[in-house]
Amino acid sequence: MSLGRNVFLLCSIQFLLCKAKLSLHSHYPNVAKTLENKKFYVDSPSCKMPEMDPFSADIMRFFKRRQFRECSSDKDLLISEFDSHLRQYRIKIDENSAQQHLKKFGNATLKCEYQVIGRNKKDSFPDNHFSFSKLQPLSQSFLVPKTIDFISTQCHAVHGNIDLKLLQKDAFLFVQDRLNHEHKNTEHHRPDLQSKPNVIILGIDSTSRMNLRRSMPKVHKFLQRPGWFEMQGYNKVGENTLPNLLAILTGNAEENALFNGRFGHSGFIDKLKFIWQLFKKNGYMTAFGEDCAKINTFNYQKPGFKQQPVDFYLRNFIVALETILKTRREFGNVFCLGRKLGFQYVFDFARQFMQRFENSAPVFGIFWSNSFTHEDFLGATALDHVFLEYLTLYDELGFFNRSIVMVLSDHGYRYGVTRQASKSGYLEERLPLMFIHVPPWFRKIYPQYVENLKINQNRLSSGFDLHMTLHHLLHLNATSMADFSPKLQASQCKMCQSLFFQLPANRNCSHAGIREKWCSCEPTETVTNQRLLRKVAQEVVHHMNRHLRDRNLTTLCQNYALKKVLYLDSKISLSEDSVEDEQLHTYIITFETNPSSAHFEATVQWNSEKETLNMNVDELSRLESYEKHSKCTRDPIIKKYCICKEFK
Ligand SMILES: *[C@@H]1O[C@H](CO)[C@@H](O)[C@H](O)[C@H]1NC(C)=O
Ligand SMILES: *[C@@H]1O[C@H](CO)[C@@H](O)[C@H](O)[C@H]1NC(C)=O
Ligand SMILES: *[C@@H]1O[C@H](CO)[C@@H](O)[C@H](O)[C@H]1NC(C)=O
Ligand SMILES: *[C@@H]1O[C@H](CO)[C@@H](O)[C@H](O)[C@H]1NC(C)=O
Ligand SMILES: *[C@@H]1O[C@H](CO)[C@@H](O)[C@H](O)[C@H]1NC(C)=O
Repeated sequence: MSLGRNVFLLCSIQFLLCKAKLSLHSHYPNVAKTLENKKFYVDSPSCKMPEMDPFSADIMRFFKRRQFRECSSDKDLLISEFDSHLRQYRIKIDENSAQQHLKKFGNATLKCEYQVIGRNKKDSFPDNHFSFSKLQPLSQSFLVPKTIDFISTQCHAVHGNIDLKLLQKDAFLFVQDRLNHEHKNTEHHRPDLQSKPNVIILGIDSTSRMNLRRSMPKVHKFLQRPGWFEMQGYNKVGENTLPNLLAILTGNAEENALFNGRFGHSGFIDKLKFIWQLFKKNGYMTAFGEDCAKINTFNYQKPGFKQQPVDFYLRNFIVALETILKTRREFGNVFCLGRKLGFQYVFDFARQFMQRFENSAPVFGIFWSNSFTHEDFLGATALDHVFLEYLTLYDELGFFNRSIVMVLSDHGYRYGVTRQASKSGYLEERLPLMFIHVPPWFRKIYPQYVENLKINQNRLSSGFDLHMTLHHLLHLNATSMADFSPKLQASQCKMCQSLFFQLPANRNCSHAGIREKWCSCEPTETVTNQRLLRKVAQEVVHHMNRHLRDRNLTTLCQNYALKKVLYLDSKISLSEDSVEDEQLHTYIITFETNPSSAHFEATVQWNSEKETLNMNVDELSRLESYEKHSKCTRDPIIKKYCICKEFK
């Protein structure tokens, strides 16, 4: 009925799109209808990325908020200050707090000591350990030597030589200004902001754009202030944190190396060309910090860096604190490190780093938090205001006036209730949050770049474009991509480009370096034909079992049996199909297998005439945490799908 007329109307408005739709009409009579009332993050003939309602009923069924619980309620005994005259840190004992703590112990006195934490360069795996000095006395108003980056402290109530009680253990980090200042007590002059702006990346792991809106409304509101731009068509390029961060930092997600296990070789990661090396070469100070040592991007089941990769590197400190302090796990990860949040160490590190070089050097830093979002969206609901407090503090300190800031994530939830519960989980996983801030002076000097950013908000983009944006920030006088040497191009995406230049409207996933598996450009349609559902699912399980045999995994892993099919969605192809392609369909299938009710999602090609299936089993997505099922292997890919025989 009115379907035909609507298609016609759309035709006259968007001729190209209409052609695609008409050619689809024969397989999917509902396609035009499906698309017509939808909103899109990206809406072009070659990419139609559907906009999702973050508050849809199927997700809100599972949604809750959690109250924030402090890590410690007792008053700080020690306070760290920066003496801006001496340009040195000082640790002070808070006398009031000391008196309160000592009240219970008659005429006891306070004895505080510290130990220096560092990186042991001679260790064969320096990322996984730390050096720890002997205990030294900590006097009142202790001036911290400039050679010290990290300390742990302990304060006891003592009576003479008798130790009555350990009152407080704590830890402090110091971003030390080690630049050689030519004249005593005066600072180097920082090169002008216009040619060398600060560049800061603040990462919240596993957070989709939709999840940010649900779980962190306060932070989301902050990110809507003037100067912030949301890249709504930003699509992930790899499975987990490592490939997605590598795309940004090196221009290559290194998926082959990941697959071949080359990241397991000590020293491999040191050889990659990280963008921070170029910032360093251009006179920048560099920093990298991340919480939750066990799951750190470059260290999870990997040896990490042999050489310290940046000027200021938080890793050894966090490893040390997780070893020597009392920790509290919450939301599935180490949440409190002693008296503070793991996240607070990372964001205090960022604050000190930006403050310390404010007048003396440009800075490039990446600060990544895993601790409260990696496993459970509840953590983000509890920390919304804490995160906002940091953004507000950074704002008050003028950081946003001087810096290009990116607040982003690597991907959305890959497993868990939000992923299993709803069809939108497929998009949630693929669309991480991605905001860019440019300061007022930048908006004034580069109005065209700002105009382009605005347009690019609703174009398809990826981490490779962000990589090129970082290159652009190192060459702000470039006026088109032609001004960049070809060797600077992202090696995995030669057509990717700075987000300060207008992205082509007619971009598809291959142009942005995004593989079919992760591509959100094609809207989907639910298939309800039960016979087809069953047929495809059985073929998929058959392929999975054959894969176990082909890879000699049958002694390790159990065979799968289909338990039930949850959804079968068909991707709506936007390109004009050739005749041979007419029978080829891309399906996204979500299903459960026995044993142990494992949930999987696969993107497969189905030939409807021959009823044959093409799939890559290693690309399967697993929709729940598989840690307890996969203890028999260390291979990250096999872990995803192997149900170990010893697991009953
Ligand atoms: C305080 O110290 C004195 C002398 O060392 C001792 O005799 C007295 O018992 C102490 N008082 C308390 C309450 O511990
Ligand atoms: C940031 O810049 C604006 C104008 O460019 C100025 O009004 C404001 O005071 C600055 N904020 C800080 C904290 O320096
Ligand atoms: C940008 O400036 C640098 C250094 O001043 C110069 O080497 C380069 O050629 C300039 N690039 C363009 C495109 O003007
Ligand atoms: C993207 O467009 C190019 C032509 O510009 C085409 O060759 C390619 O197959 C398209 N890729 C996808 C994923 O549609
Ligand atoms: C599996 O084992 C057979 C016999 O032991 C061997 O020939 C083959 O290369 C192995 N395949 C793989 C992928 O390891």
